[in-house]
Amino acid sequence: MTKKFFRRFALVLTVAIMCACNATAQSEKDVDLTPAQRAAYDNIMTRTSIRSWENKAVEPAKVEMLLRAGMAAPTAVNRQPWHFVVLEKRESIDLLATGRGGGMVRKAPLAIVVCGDMTKALEGKAQDFWVQDASAATENILLAANAIGLGAVWTGVYPIEERVNNVREALKLEDHLVPLCTILIGYPHEHPSPKDKWRPENVTRK
Ligand SMILES: Cc1cc2nc3c(=O)[nH]c(=O)nc-3n(C[C@H](O)[C@H](O)[C@H](O)COP(=O)(O)O)c2cc1C
Repeated sequence: MTKKFFRRFALVLTVAIMCACNATAQSEKDVDLTPAQRAAYDNIMTRTSIRSWENKAVEPAKVEMLLRAGMAAPTAVNRQPWHFVVLEKRESIDLLATGRGGGMVRKAPLAIVVCGDMTKALEGKAQDFWVQDASAATENILLAANAIGLGAVWTGVYPIEERVNNVREALKLEDHLVPLCTILIGYPHEHPSPKDKWRPENVTRK
């Protein structure tokens, strides 16, 4: 009797969980979107890191689109405390090929070094907001790259002091510029599937 009850209970619970999961998976498709809205959302969901590129330069107009996307990002108190160093020449990009990941750098047709500009950053305790501001710009550039047929990867620099110093020295950056990351960009030579990172357990509703 007890065994039967528990078996039934387990079955009902399993069906309930399956229904709940299915409802969540369905919900995204149930939303009525215009083609433009769907395209914008899909652009976010299909972005993935690209680490291999065609041997082809990125057109200047596209480089400007990436920079405009970066500068469209939100920033604390609208300070826009950033500076973008664009590396298009082979010998300039190769300056970044120090240490791990050097092989990937040497094959990238374009690199944008996203820096925090301490002369524009907030003062006092709020100064470190520059990291979030420059990160928002970086993500915008990655998304813009995906939208216009390019592929890119964020390679971290700050807060690893050794990497910060390496990039500073390699590019002879002025003292008030702190490199947050290097974005390597080009026409994709690989087409990896986006990773499924949806984890409902990472969400709490209160
Ligand atoms: C702060 C940060 C630092 C990263 N540094 C590197 C890096 O040094 N080298 C690299 O190949 N990818 C780097 N990545 C890319 C991540 O490995 C990648 O985003 C992650 O594996 C998820 O994959 P996806 O971008 O395809 O979704 C970095 C990403 C972030 C946000």
